Amino acid sequence: MKGIILSGGSATRLRPCTKITSKQLLPVYNRPMIYYPLNTLIKAGIKEILIIVAPERAGDYLNLLGSGKEFGVKFTYEVQDKPRGLADAFIIGENFIDQGNVTMILGDNIFEDDFSKEIKSFKSGAKVFAKKVSDPERFGVVKFDDNMRAVQIEEKPKKWISDYALTGLYIYDGSVVEASKSVKPSERGELEITELHNWYLKRGELEVAMVKGEWLDAGTFDSLLEAQILAKEKLQDKLVI
Ligand code: G1P
Repeated sequence: MKGIILSGGSATRLRPCTKITSKQLLPVYNRPMIYYPLNTLIKAGIKEILIIVAPERAGDYLNLLGSGKEFGVKFTYEVQDKPRGLADAFIIGENFIDQGNVTMILGDNIFEDDFSKEIKSFKSGAKVFAKKVSDPERFGVVKFDDNMRAVQIEEKPKKWISDYALTGLYIYDGSVVEASKSVKPSERGELEITELHNWYLKRGELEVAMVKGEWLDAGTFDSLLEAQILAKEKLQDKLVI
């Protein structure tokens, strides 16, 4: 199992704090934000991690994280020259993935849960993680049938379909590269990750698990503040880096 941290984007919602640095390098209590998703991957025993960054911030990531030796892992870096969407990560990472299984986590997603078991026991298909939220319109959303089987997945639905958001942690087998290449850009011009989920869902190969603990996407000032508090009060003894 290899890992990818997608840490690109321009984070306009966090201006002016992101005018000279990347959102995922802003402090969340006592660590840079990216340490939290990195911790999730390292705790699950992943040793090879691709970090995808925006070109103007690449140097900052290299200075902060280096080769990975300090963390007992090996980092590879790739540049995403334009925010082309989350699924673009698997096209950028094609050689790195090398047809194997891969876990991707977004650089601004902070989880309380430990996903070691799910990541280590993954065999094939796709596994994604959902959490009930009060503001589903901010996220990719999954609708379940009466047996809690996923039936519909939509990116930021304008009309309510469900309260279950899909978090920024995804486990895929090697066909994710082929699937990503088949995705057509959405109205906002991005390769949406929800299209990948639909690709697997159509084949009956998508598993949706529930996140039990707290989860935050620290992309707004309010969620960043919540993340600070979560990190201070609940995450300190869960961090291995
Ligand atoms: C992205 C995904 C969305 C997902 C969210 C989780 O949205 O497109 O499906 O629910 O991450 O953090 P973004 O934060 O890029 O708007």
